[in-house]
Amino acid sequence: FAKGDPAKGKSLSATCSACHGADGNSSNPEWPKLAGQGEGYLAKQLNDYRSGARVNAVMSAQAGLIASDEDVEHLAAYFASQKTTAGAGDKDKVEEGRLIYKGGKVSAKITACAACHGPTGVGNDAAKFPRLAGQHTTYLLAQLKAFRSGERANDAGKMMRNIASKMSDTDMDAIVEYVSGL
Ligand code: HEM
Ligand code: HEM
Repeated sequence: FAKGDPAKGKSLSATCSACHGADGNSSNPEWPKLAGQGEGYLAKQLNDYRSGARVNAVMSAQAGLIASDEDVEHLAAYFASQKTTAGAGDKDKVEEGRLIYKGGKVSAKITACAACHGPTGVGNDAAKFPRLAGQHTTYLLAQLKAFRSGERANDAGKMMRNIASKMSDTDMDAIVEYVSGL
């Protein structure tokens, strides 16, 4: 996937940078890092905000201001081309997080996250599976809870809603610590 022009995306990114950081590494942990995220995944999220498939007060408004489908591709290409900074999580802190990420949790019927998000958390953009490595723990936890409550419902085939519905708060706390530290 490489549709957009990163240079054009950079020239469009000034308003985004206020929250997501000039290089896509946000400082506020409630705002996701976009740096190093898959281009196809980023474009899908922007289009989901534009169509209303994903709803967030701030981002629905922001995405609505993007002038064209081409500009979506350029913005996605720019942030995808940036390098993710290290996350705040500690992958060695919570063993339970590593176990669930790598092997799932059979007793709760949670499948391994690594199957889709990759053994090192970098995702698989051909399938639009997002990168999780280095992402803010606060943002990751908010998304898992939003999938669990159904507030976020833009995952094709309910892949994430099904998994999150089987996770306890303790499972989520452990996993986000692990993946943010990858
Ligand atoms: C989420 C892009 C402007 C705050 C996102 C996501 C993308 C994105 C792709 C989803 C990330 C993911 O799923 O991992 C952009 C672009 C912008 C822009 C291209 C400029 C055109 C802003 C601004 C703010 C902001 C100005 C703050 C005022 C947020 C927040 C979320 C988010 C809070 C999480 C929303 C949620 O939970 O659904 N943004 N953003 N963004 N962005 Fe932006
Ligand atoms: C999205 C975590 C397992 C497929 C996400 C997001 C998180 C996450 C935090 C949102 C990322 C963001 O907003 O930037 C996890 C965890 C898992 C897990 C902790 C294990 C417990 C899986 C599995 C699959 C999968 C097994 C595939 C069958 C996806 C997809 C999305 C996603 C397709 C993007 C949905 C969309 O388009 O909005 N995951 N995931 N995940 N995950 Fe997972």
